[in-house]
Amino acid sequence: MDPLTIGRAVNELTSQFTQAGLDTPRLDARILIGHVAKLTPSLLFARATQTLTAAQAAEIETLGQRRLAHEPVSRILGRREFWGLDFELNEATLDPRPDTETVVSAALALKDALPPKPQVLDLGTGTGCILIAILSELPAARGVGIDRDARAVAAARANADRLGVGARAAFWQGDWCAGVSETFDLIVSNPPYIGERERPDLDAEVARFDPPGALFAGTEGLDAYAALIPGARERLAAQGRLILEIGVTQAEPVESLLMRSGMVVESAVPDLSGRIRVLVTRRG
Ligand SMILES: C[S@@+](CC[C@H](N)C(=O)[O-])C[C@H]1O[C@@H](n2cnc3c(N)ncnc32)[C@H](O)[C@@H]1O
Repeated sequence: MDPLTIGRAVNELTSQFTQAGLDTPRLDARILIGHVAKLTPSLLFARATQTLTAAQAAEIETLGQRRLAHEPVSRILGRREFWGLDFELNEATLDPRPDTETVVSAALALKDALPPKPQVLDLGTGTGCILIAILSELPAARGVGIDRDARAVAAARANADRLGVGARAAFWQGDWCAGVSETFDLIVSNPPYIGERERPDLDAEVARFDPPGALFAGTEGLDAYAALIPGARERLAAQGRLILEIGVTQAEPVESLLMRSGMVVESAVPDLSGRIRVLVTRRG
C-alpha cells in the first residue's frame, strides 16, 4: 500500500469516527494526528501530502482506537485548555468544562469590591483550574486549593507552577474546610453534583473517564453542597463571597441549603442557554 500521508490519515480517521457516531469526527482526527505529527491544525492542511513514518501511523492507530472507545481527546492528550490556559490532567482530576469558566467570570466581576490583596479558597480544586485562572487575572491575589485526592492536589500544584502562579498558591489535601483556620475574601467551588440516579444516563465519555469522586454526590447530587456550605460560611471574611457552580436543576435546593446555613443568594448567573449554573452568595 502507498505510504500514509497526513491528508489520507485525517480522512480515514474522520471516517472511522463518523461511523462510530462521535460528535466532532474531523476535529478529533485533526487534533490527534496533529499531536502525533507535532503540527498545529493549520499546518496540517498545508502538509496534507507529507508522508507519516510507520511509527507515527502506528501511534495514530492506537490513539484512534482509544477515541473509538469514547476516551475524550483531552484525556488522550492529558491536557485541556481552560480560560485560555493549558492544564494537565491526571486520572484523579475532572476534565475541566467550559461551563466552569462562568465561576471564574463571576469571581472576577467582584474585583472592585475585593480588598487590594484578596485571599481566595477553591474547594474541590481538581486540576486547580478555577483558582489558577483567578490568580492569573488578579496579580495581587493569593489562594489555597483543597482537594481530598492527593493526586489532584499534585496536578494542581504542577499546573500552578507551570502557569506562573505557583508562588501565590498553596494546595492542601483535605475534606472541604476541615482544619482550615484562615479566612478568605472569595471562596469558589465546583463540587461533585451529579445524583446517583443520573449515573445510568451519563455519556460514556464522562462515566468511563472522569473520576467518580469528582462527579457523584448522593442520590440527588446535593450531598457535597450540604457538607461544604457550613464550613465555607465559617471561613468567609465578613464581606466575603461564596461562589458555587450548580447543576441545571439545583438552584432551588442549593439556595435552601444556603439559607439553612445563614447564607443568601446575591446573584444567580445563567449559562449561555439561560440556565442558572452559578450562585454568588454572602452571609445573610
Ligand atoms: C467537579 S470536580 C471539580 C474540579 C475542578 N474544580 C474543576 O472545576 O474542574 C470536584 C472535585 O471535588 C473533589 N472533592 C470531592 N469531595 C471532596 C471533599 N470532601 N473534600 C475536598 N474535595 C473533594 C474531587 O476530588 C474533585 O476534584
